Amino acid sequence: MKVIRSVKEMCAYAQVKRREGKKIGFVPTMGALHSGHLSLINKARKESDVVVISIFVNPIQFGPKEDFRRYPRNFSEDRRIAEKAGVDVLFFPSTQGIYPQGYCTYIRVEGLSNKLCGAFRPTHFQGVATVVAKLFNIVQPDIAYFGQKDFQQVVIIKRMVEDLNIPVKIKSLPIVREKDGLAMSSRNRYLNKQEREKARILFQSLQLARRLVEGGERRAEAVARQMKRVIRERVPEARIDYVSIVDPKSLEEVSKIKKKVLVAVALWIGKARLIDNMLIKV
Ligand code: PAJ
Repeated sequence: MKVIRSVKEMCAYAQVKRREGKKIGFVPTMGALHSGHLSLINKARKESDVVVISIFVNPIQFGPKEDFRRYPRNFSEDRRIAEKAGVDVLFFPSTQGIYPQGYCTYIRVEGLSNKLCGAFRPTHFQGVATVVAKLFNIVQPDIAYFGQKDFQQVVIIKRMVEDLNIPVKIKSLPIVREKDGLAMSSRNRYLNKQEREKARILFQSLQLARRLVEGGERRAEAVARQMKRVIRERVPEARIDYVSIVDPKSLEEVSKIKKKVLVAVALWIGKARLIDNMLIKV
């Protein structure tokens, strides 16, 4: 596995591979790799000639009071995991490399970026869209892989790629979960043993939503209310950012559940902000 730290070198490498007619599969990450990331890497391995992953904890997608500084960083472990997974290139740029002095260009995907998590993290998706667009220009992938764990992120990236005519195919893959249902996340590392136990509530509340809809409940508001009730009952100390039932394309709240909806939840347990979601068909 090649480790490339320089932006220039990464660009040059990608250009050579493309000229050779090789298909580049790309998985952007912030590191602290887990099985969720691995499912994306494995898919890329199957579908492309060259697999590139990036590890970059992107400062501009964190708010001023968020966890940028304590976000888990473990390069040597990540490097070992990536190598074992058959990654060809690990792109590990510096902050200076991505945002040199004088940097001042940002991408805003309007509307979609203000909903769900965007309502609580106002500059988050601008930071994500900007860094992903830059990474696409540097890595020049044919296909890029994203997880449905961050459902809103994929919707925004797909929109950006279409709006800006970026020549890359975006694929999204299902959420990888722990045995008890908790969605894998680098931020799960913030949880102590008791909090980890309590974190099961996210998936449990989504399962409740699914049972309610399967049982014939069509009022989104009633489903959300029941989910909040069960969260408050079982984990009273959880601080709920949102429980939302939205159209999976527009991310607009729905009132009646008539077709496939996205049920999404974001809440805090201790110092960890956790998100999860489920697509529910009627
Ligand atoms: P990060 O949180 O490291 O996630 C990298 C990719 O892994 C994302 O596409 C995310 O949705 C996916 N992923 C994370 N947990 C997953 C799980 N449990 N199941 C399936 N996929 C999962 O998302 C980011 O980094 C950043 O915002 C990034 C896109 C790299 C831009 O900085």
